[in-house]
Amino acid sequence: MNVDLPIEFNFDHVGIAVKSIEEGASFYSALGLDVTHTEEVASQKVRVAMLKLSNASQLELLEPTAEDSPIAKFLQKKGPGIHHICLRVSNIEACLLRLKQEGYRLINETPVDGAHNCKVAFVHPKAVGGVLLELSEPQS
Ligand code: CO
Repeated sequence: MNVDLPIEFNFDHVGIAVKSIEEGASFYSALGLDVTHTEEVASQKVRVAMLKLSNASQLELLEPTAEDSPIAKFLQKKGPGIHHICLRVSNIEACLLRLKQEGYRLINETPVDGAHNCKVAFVHPKAVGGVLLELSEPQS
């Protein structure tokens, strides 16, 4: 793989931890912004609800589906709130390789199946100035 190829980066979504999607979505619904899509993501043990914005970026509400879900742990520690940001990239394998070569701490060394038929990988907040970063590449 050529890691020097240019990679496209786009803002994709902010992930927000909620105790329940119904509860979390009620504010946005009152505002006039409705859930456009929900699905269960087994790899992360969450149910996600997406609220699509006009510029194609999204808000992602994350509800845990198991006690050992990373979102359940986050809610226990910090309560509901912003959990991660997600950049959509054109070549996730090259991104991970670049970060590995530079010694950055990854949560997923290889991509896993995420929402919307995307390949995703999380980068540790310690590597990203306190921000949990999700990289996501749509699968064609
Ligand atoms: Co996400």
